Amino acid sequence: YSLKNLNTFGIEAKAKQFIAVHSIEELQLVLDQNKTQKKFILGGGSNMLLTKDIDALVIHIDLKGIKIIDEDENYVWVESQAGENWHEFVLYTIDHNFGGLENMSLIPGNVGTTPVQNIGAYGTEIKDTFVSCQAVAIDSQETKTFTKEECSFGYRESIFKNEVKDHYIITSVVFKLTKKDHKINTSYGDIIAELAKNKITKPSLKDVSDAVIAIRKSKLPDPKELGNSGSFFKNPILLKSEFEKIHKQFPEMKYYDISETEVKVPAGWLIEQAGFKGKRFGDAGIHKNQALVLVNYGNATGQEILEISRNIQDTIFKKFGIYIEAEVNVI
Ligand code: EPU
Repeated sequence: YSLKNLNTFGIEAKAKQFIAVHSIEELQLVLDQNKTQKKFILGGGSNMLLTKDIDALVIHIDLKGIKIIDEDENYVWVESQAGENWHEFVLYTIDHNFGGLENMSLIPGNVGTTPVQNIGAYGTEIKDTFVSCQAVAIDSQETKTFTKEECSFGYRESIFKNEVKDHYIITSVVFKLTKKDHKINTSYGDIIAELAKNKITKPSLKDVSDAVIAIRKSKLPDPKELGNSGSFFKNPILLKSEFEKIHKQFPEMKYYDISETEVKVPAGWLIEQAGFKGKRFGDAGIHKNQALVLVNYGNATGQEILEISRNIQDTIFKKFGIYIEAEVNVI
């Protein structure tokens, strides 16, 4: 079974067996009937690089549905099933004037995978509005609700990438969104500039979403046109003491303070400075407008993209003494 249309990199890889599940009951049944089989869980396929065929039963999570489960005067609790497309879900919240997700418009992938890496963009992360998620245990098929605290969210991190990795399948997520007095977040320079361009001074949720969509479209390739997985690397976090030494050598290096003791350096800047931006090697390359994004021009293999990513990591390490870690899950 070809997975080419089920991963946003558009990599050709085959699954030994494939099944799509549309409800928790179906998922539990499939898990129960395939206890001894090797299993591979596939959501929106937007954060992975397939470097080989999958010698396992691929279970595609295709649960659909959005519903309001509670509300009060100020807030609404919205539950989305894991298989809903993230951006369509964000548009639903904006159409209903529910605030909190607008800065994360147009992020590829499905709702069920958003907690795994605590997706974020333009000053917001899902942990800011996340209430809980429901998951099914792969071994016992029992359902469990993970509260926000239990998820241990961090920068592109959660319990699902660590302690319980490969043990649970997220089936739905609940967000607490504002019904009024929305906390419009235009802290990010790019958003302010985009709104100013359109002479918007009191932005609505839709204005912010439209601004984010315009920024993303100008920098990030549409996976439907050019295979990619968004940022391939995480922005490295360095101890200030460590950073200061490097900064002396490279005073033009960009950075953001993230705590008293740590700074974050944009990996896109490092990659651009190392001369990789816009480079193409066969059908694989580095995006011309955003060096953090690796792209598949058509028939690149996962191995080819992986090799480029290693070449980038080595070069950055040699040049700056900074290790940049992949954000994408390399399979
Ligand atoms: N930069 C360069 N060259 C580049 C790219 C970036 O010099 O080719 C510099 C920019 O000039 C800017 C800085 O790096 O000063 C930051 O760039 P940008 O605002 O584009 O954001 P980013 O740090 O590259 C992160 C997220 C994105 C998210 C944006 C906006 C990570 C790994 N990536 O990128 O998330 O959309 O911020 O908030 O944290 C994703 O995770 O897939 C993703 C796209």
